[in-house]
Amino acid sequence: MSKRYTITAALPYTNGPIHIGHLAGVYVPADIYARYLRLTGNDVAFICGSDEHGVPITIKAKKEGVTPQDIVDKYHAIIKKSFEDFGVSFDNYSRTSAKIHHDTAQNFFKTLYDKGEFIEEVTEQLYDEKADQFLADRFVTGTCPKCSNEEAYGDQCEKCGSSLNATDLINPKSAITGNVPTLKQTKHWFLPLDKHEAFLKEWILKGHKKDWKPNVYGQVKSWIDDGLRPRAVTRDLDWGIPVPVEGAEGKVLYVWFDAPIGYISATKEWAERVGKDWEPYWKDENTKLVHFIGKDNIVFHCIIFPAMLKAEGSYILPDNVPANEFLNLEGNKLSTSKNWAVWLPEYLEDFPNQQDVLRYALTANAPETKDNDFTWADFQAKNNNELVAIFGNFINRVVVLTDKYYNGIVPSPSNFTQVDEEVLAAIKAYPDVIASSIERYRFREASQELMNLARLGNKYLADEEPWKVIKVDEERTKTIMFVALQIASALATLSEPFLPFTSDKLKNILSVTSSAIEMSWEDISTKNVLLPTGHQIGKAELLFSKIEDEAIQQQLDKLIASKKANEAANKTVEPQKDTITYDDFSKLDIRVGTILEAEKMPKANKLLVLKVDTGIDVRTIVSGIAESFSAEEVIGKKVTVLVNLAPRALRGVESQGMILMTENAEGKLVFVNPDDKSVANGLHIS
Ligand code: 2FM
Ligand code: ZN
Repeated sequence: MSKRYTITAALPYTNGPIHIGHLAGVYVPADIYARYLRLTGNDVAFICGSDEHGVPITIKAKKEGVTPQDIVDKYHAIIKKSFEDFGVSFDNYSRTSAKIHHDTAQNFFKTLYDKGEFIEEVTEQLYDEKADQFLADRFVTGTCPKCSNEEAYGDQCEKCGSSLNATDLINPKSAITGNVPTLKQTKHWFLPLDKHEAFLKEWILKGHKKDWKPNVYGQVKSWIDDGLRPRAVTRDLDWGIPVPVEGAEGKVLYVWFDAPIGYISATKEWAERVGKDWEPYWKDENTKLVHFIGKDNIVFHCIIFPAMLKAEGSYILPDNVPANEFLNLEGNKLSTSKNWAVWLPEYLEDFPNQQDVLRYALTANAPETKDNDFTWADFQAKNNNELVAIFGNFINRVVVLTDKYYNGIVPSPSNFTQVDEEVLAAIKAYPDVIASSIERYRFREASQELMNLARLGNKYLADEEPWKVIKVDEERTKTIMFVALQIASALATLSEPFLPFTSDKLKNILSVTSSAIEMSWEDISTKNVLLPTGHQIGKAELLFSKIEDEAIQQQLDKLIASKKANEAANKTVEPQKDTITYDDFSKLDIRVGTILEAEKMPKANKLLVLKVDTGIDVRTIVSGIAESFSAEEVIGKKVTVLVNLAPRALRGVESQGMILMTENAEGKLVFVNPDDKSVANGLHIS
């Protein structure tokens, strides 16, 4: 039965592009769910947008010396494009700087204010004297009182997930100046979460009965059991939505107050655009509201936002919040600041038109019940061993053989064998099997069931061997190909939520794009024939192509480069040596020279024997650079040479000077050349 769904996906902070962790944790599962629900005839509003307020954006703007507006404009465009590129089928992708959002958030606040739902209180808050600013949220770090993580933020500890007030932090430190904050009085509005405790308890318990994921239920229950406290929903900041009441000049709404309201304003914006009424999507008890988020957002979606909605009084509450755990990358936590990530725009540059491969690899390995690791080797295996070898191979064989034997026309079957009947019955069962996994938010399992259908097709062809049977029994071959084509047709529809680009391509190949012949999800279970006899299909086209080891190695090299750059950035600069006099300095005779010849020193890994033209003479210098350069690549190089260093013998060869070298960000030796941007200031010349 058709139902109304409001599906939200966490609004990403607009302070950088999005990476595979975002895609795996939130946007791909949400998209699978939304696409599936549309395919099964439901009324769906799939909503998202950019979260453009909050401290991370201000910090990024400060770092880059631009305005917060510049930052959000830049990344809103980049993020929006990534979602489009990866086929994330939002009905609306809005932004919280939109007027409709400012109005909606302010009205929401005003309603709670008028209903007396806030506590107005002057309290002491952390203050940075030097920056002349109150410190809240990510402007302050310190030790988490719950788990002792020393890098907890003023509003949340990302290690244990606790929601914090900035004054809870032990040893707080300003993220702006590094100073220890002082305390200063300021007035704010607090949402008394304690007042909603009884309701939240009961609601969560109900939620649990509805089969909430154990990770979500467990976290929420433990926060409630710990006791809830009033939570400030306003801030002393200059970037955000102004608090719309008297006496609140210079104050803005807390980003976590305004951001979830962004789901509502984005729904309104969409409804206006398509001529619908937004209210049933948020106020009709028959609507199912589902929030897709990462685990660090659980408290906001399961405690604070529901308390806000309840306090307002006219809204429905989420039916489920299927939060995912985190995805790691090659064994390490994904990190924007350490550039330990696979950014979506970069992925597409390296793997053009291969969005579905990433979607599949991330779904098949989604961090649904525990943190999971993305490895490039697994990505390659998912592509080569499953998408290419199973799905792509099956479709290719069916289409090529249909073209070859019947000029692309679906043949007429004769008697079905027991195996045929079983396969046709299995096709009919798949929609329900996959649906049941999707409806329980088990997207990994669902994606594997889809692959099982392709596997069934492959096995059917391998067992029935139409390429052999055609030589002896043309009628039987027609039946085999007819059955195989039915599997292909089912795959075209059932793959849509997971592999939307492939599904489109496959529908084109099978010429099932017109409404007369395009299958709905339900048709696959109910119709006896999906691709009718006489239907003309198109030509074969490769759905997936093999990913070679070199492409994978390139990605691993990128990560190694990031790692080395991080290590170099974290390297402490050696302290300065004792002062020398000008006379000391003038004793050094440093000249520009050219390497004329080079050869490896036998039996020495590190040494090259060079002939260097110093302008004074041509001399031999033994240099320890063989691990960074081959002999061939240094010939002809201009170098800086200390020419009056006392000669010394290295492995029996007299070295008459020294070539000045340093290390670049990747730890590789480079010739001293101040134009080389990869060399960091402060590095030792040796
Ligand atoms: O964690 C984040 O990236 C937040 N910007 C998510 C916000 S979700 C919502 F409430 F808007
Ligand atoms: Zn903690």
